[in-house]
Amino acid sequence: MKKLSVKTKNKEYDILIKNGLLSDIDTFLSNDTKFFLITNDNLAKIYPDFISKFKNRVIIKDGENHKNFETFQFITEELLRQRIERKDKIVVFGGGVTGDLAGYAAASVLRGVGFIQIPTTLLAQVDSSVGGKTGFNTKYGKNLVGAFYQPDIVLIDPSLLKTLPEKEIKTGFGEVVKYCFIEKNCSSNQDFYMCDYLKNTENPDYSEIIYRACALKAEVVSNDEKESGLRAVLNFGHTFAHAIETVTNFETYTHGEAVSMGMKSAFELSYNLGLIDKSYYNQGFELIDKFNLAPLYKLDVDKNLYLKIMKSDKKVLSSHLRIVLPISKGMVKIAGDISETEILKVI
Ligand code: NAD
Ligand code: GLY
Repeated sequence: MKKLSVKTKNKEYDILIKNGLLSDIDTFLSNDTKFFLITNDNLAKIYPDFISKFKNRVIIKDGENHKNFETFQFITEELLRQRIERKDKIVVFGGGVTGDLAGYAAASVLRGVGFIQIPTTLLAQVDSSVGGKTGFNTKYGKNLVGAFYQPDIVLIDPSLLKTLPEKEIKTGFGEVVKYCFIEKNCSSNQDFYMCDYLKNTENPDYSEIIYRACALKAEVVSNDEKESGLRAVLNFGHTFAHAIETVTNFETYTHGEAVSMGMKSAFELSYNLGLIDKSYYNQGFELIDKFNLAPLYKLDVDKNLYLKIMKSDKKVLSSHLRIVLPISKGMVKIAGDISETEILKVI
């Protein structure tokens, strides 16, 4: 079993990673606590034995297009109908959509109950289950309602990925490749570089990748839980991605695909601005293409609408877009002074 820890101002918790960890679940469910499972209707069919361990369950509809206020309302009202109390705990079993919604429900119901994250997608295992960002989408944009609310523990079982469709593995890989471009910002003390590893392997070891990604994320979140500085580097590609997802109604591209498309836009923008040379620009594109992560690069949509949505991003400061841009291998910077003309050229 591998163990990492996240240490924020108000909470310290472990991330445990082990193949087969789900079958040890009873060890983590103490008899004197009541647990409320939150999962989706797809996972409920795939993992009936695990689901049946819980008398109290909330099953939501599957899909990014259900990551909205209606589902949040359904979850919180269901928890209350089943008479959840403050000392009870929520167990979240799912990908980033279920995790973000259920995490926000945990933060909100009775003004906060504890929750255990059991991420079931690659994306959730390398990113969304760690760090306490919770929330849902609105018609004005992605994840615009939510809270920072840390879990009690994150239990990662990479063997759950055996049932994950290939398309979803690929989408998680978008967030994995992201770490290649930001890893030197995340940690100055590394004996492993995601970029070198992924460049030189055809068959990545998921357990290794998950551990390394979580280690980087744990370090960043421990230093800057509420994104007042460093944590913003984790949003590399995301300002573009959130606009791509919103402008296509959360239906056309998965989050990870949109992030990969967004990282390409960021590379092009950096190159146009003279922040990186052609060689690093090519390396960025090659790594994203090696794993076939970005189905498209530029969308055939109203670019002014795309830009308008970008400007409703949470990172906007005094009406100025703040975009994470690559500057050298493994390093990015946050730029707040990019002209709209330059942005329009790359979307
Ligand atoms: P998802 O939760 O929709 O899961 C993708 C699909 O895989 C769903 O159909 C789901 O039912 C299915 N699935 C999940 N686990 C499975 C398994 N083990 N076997 C078979 N099928 C399985 O999508 P996602 O990519 O996990 O998450 C995307 C979301 O995560 C986005 O909404 C994004 O905004 C959010 N996110 C949040 C953070 C954060 O820090 N909180 C970080 C990155 C992304
Ligand atoms: N996925 C971005 C973050 O957790 O900050």
